[in-house]
Amino acid sequence: MKKLDMIYEGKAKKVFKTDNDKKYIVDYKDDATAFNGVKKGTIVGKGVVNNKMSAAMFLMLEEKGIRTHFLELLSDRESLVRAVKILPVEVIVRNVVAGSFAKRLGLEEGTEIKETILEFCYKNDELGDPIINDYHIYALELATREQLDKIKTDTFKINDIMKVYFKEKGIRLVDFKLEFGLYDGEVILADEISPDTCRLWDLATNKKLDKDRFRRDLGEVEETYQEVLKRIQG
Ligand code: TMP
Repeated sequence: MKKLDMIYEGKAKKVFKTDNDKKYIVDYKDDATAFNGVKKGTIVGKGVVNNKMSAAMFLMLEEKGIRTHFLELLSDRESLVRAVKILPVEVIVRNVVAGSFAKRLGLEEGTEIKETILEFCYKNDELGDPIINDYHIYALELATREQLDKIKTDTFKINDIMKVYFKEKGIRLVDFKLEFGLYDGEVILADEISPDTCRLWDLATNKKLDKDRFRRDLGEVEETYQEVLKRIQG
């Protein structure tokens, strides 16, 4: 598989064309940002962890019947994926109160949420990924009703699968963000699943095992990324 021109560079990944127009190569970086790029840094080894963890998560989800963009792990930092067109909607799932949800609604972080919450954000860095609802998605034509229905169904299934999966690894799945893409007219899971995109707390101690260690200057950032990968692979 030949790595050709870079077609996109985001905050944490680069995406390259290949000699097959149905396939892209994703290259994971160690760059870390928070608060919409205001805080910048490097988490040494993060790209490797996020690449390998995403691969493991996508393979696990495929086995449970979720279609994803993942095809093959190519190297420590690179994966071969289906060439999807990312829908500009970030899908956030919340099982436990944390982060912007705690702040916005004045709720205490760590409180279990009785009914799983689904949020959508418009994927637009200039606007700071504003929160939107179904009506905005239809009006702005970010996705069709059919596509959003599929996204919701898949997302709830993914949450059920991932909650059980992480529990077996001694991890509480607090919240996470998903992105979906179009491939041959079908909506499939894309982007990454990593400590950058999930809040993961140790089941026994509630220790934060995710990017909040970087966002909030909690220390042991690199070590924590390695620890999560070790648990996923163990
Ligand atoms: P939030 O509480 O800051 O809204 O974040 C909710 C979840 O989404 C959390 O698991 C982290 C993830 N997330 C991303 O993956 N990318 C982002 O840009 C943001 C703000 C959050």
